[in-house]
Amino acid sequence: MRTIAYRVVFQFARATSRNKRCGPARVGKLLLACIVPVLLLSAHDVITTKITWNREISRIVFDRCASCHRPNGPAFSLLTYQDARPWAKAIQEETLERRMPPWGAVKGFGEFRGDPALTPEQMEVIAQWVDGGAPEGEEKDLPPVPMPPSPSPPFVTPSGALTLNGDTKLIQALVLDGLYPQKAPAGATFQITAELPDGSVQPLLWMLPFKPDYAHPFPLRSPLSLPKGTVVQGVPPGVSLMLLPAEAPPPAN
Ligand code: HEC
Repeated sequence: MRTIAYRVVFQFARATSRNKRCGPARVGKLLLACIVPVLLLSAHDVITTKITWNREISRIVFDRCASCHRPNGPAFSLLTYQDARPWAKAIQEETLERRMPPWGAVKGFGEFRGDPALTPEQMEVIAQWVDGGAPEGEEKDLPPVPMPPSPSPPFVTPSGALTLNGDTKLIQALVLDGLYPQKAPAGATFQITAELPDGSVQPLLWMLPFKPDYAHPFPLRSPLSLPKGTVVQGVPPGVSLMLLPAEAPPPAN
């Protein structure tokens, strides 16, 4: 981009010096042909940030996006600056809206292990990079490209798992380790809470539009003790929600 812009300026300078007696028509044409594109090109090219792809952004993308956004992955590649640059604006929008990385739950409603959500700082860094012209930076700063992820092991239903098809009162205590919305109509949103016998309400999971292709378990960051008589609420018709119990402690000798 830069070089093209400079070349156009150079040609413009040469053209004007060759035509000492520039008629108004000539100047008008030159303005259109030369100056306007120069302005467009340079407006596009203005860099107003120190944040670069090679230093900050590649590290976030390699960590949080590259598992899917890679050659032969489920989504287009974002592994190189050349791949990512045309998507800069979309990357800013998708991350600010928390649509990417897709996880499926509203952040802050329940806390989960392995939640890939970006931190507010990471979202801000991406936004500033894009607003500042999305520069590439210096090659020496670029970290190694990550290896393709190893396929995740198939889900094994733990013993003692409970499948709920509606609001359910627990007839025995359960130490909850996670939730797995296995089946739901595509696009369904629902909010699962647990009302404990003492009247307190625990947020468990707020599902954003459910995507059957991306169904996965939501392991809790720390296990939650649900006493007998707890009511698990918010399971709408057509949804099948598995409660995953924490592993039973080894029997005492
Ligand atoms: C679990 C896999 C996965 C992860 C992780 C992931 N994406 Fe995506 N992304 C997809 C898929 C699949 C699509 C295309 C279809 C869709 O929108 O669901 C997509 C689409 C996009 C789009 C295009 C949206 C549009 O249509 O304009 C952008 C931009 C994007 N992702 C950015 C990111 C960024 C940035 C990250 C990391 C912060 C990320 N994605 C992490 C799977 C993923």
